[in-house]
Amino acid sequence: MRFTVAIDGPAAAGKGTISRALAARFGFAHLDTGLLYRAVGALVAEGADPVAAARGLSAADLARADLRSLAAGEAASKVAVMPEVRAALVDFQRRFARGQGGAVLDGRDIGTVICPEAEVKLFVTASASVRAHRRWLEVGGDEAEVLAQVIARDRRDSERATAPMRPAGDAVVIDTSEMGIDEAVEHAAAVIRQKLPQAG
Ligand code: CDP
Repeated sequence: MRFTVAIDGPAAAGKGTISRALAARFGFAHLDTGLLYRAVGALVAEGADPVAAARGLSAADLARADLRSLAAGEAASKVAVMPEVRAALVDFQRRFARGQGGAVLDGRDIGTVICPEAEVKLFVTASASVRAHRRWLEVGGDEAEVLAQVIARDRRDSERATAPMRPAGDAVVIDTSEMGIDEAVEHAAAVIRQKLPQAG
């Protein structure tokens, strides 16, 4: 069976947690596409050429321990505005999406650019202050500074010319501002169940 679940949305809205829970529940593979941009950003911070880094990404690059930091997120969103960097990552994401057995991909442009034909498209969002609070609980530091970074990254991601972050026209929007993670997962799982081919 080929079945793609595309999950987009801004930083710290809960996409990652929801995606992992859905993949485990339905037995689908999961790709956190943000990691691709984070890995390219980390290599560029070390002096690599952005396009060469995107074309040559290895499994070891994606397994680096430092990709989850705020600095890596910031570096990712800077290389993510470059059309050639995005283009270099398209084929890998599309092959993953159409692999046998079903796939969940989370990112910013999965439902709009990478997999406009995905069987399920979700846009997971929450208010900037709720998202900044969640990120601050993970990374610590000064909460006001985390909020400023979340707002700056949202702006860069939604205003860029190539593949800006926005919900696909047929995406189901899930606002997690006042929703626990379990509730959000149930909501998303119900959308998937409706679209899954019936067994037998
Ligand atoms: O976990 P968080 O939502 O903070 O970030 P992420 O999903 O790891 O993405 C980091 C950055 O990579 C984003 O701010 C985007 O600029 C970029 N990105 C993108 O442009 N397209 C994607 N499909 C995924 C991430």
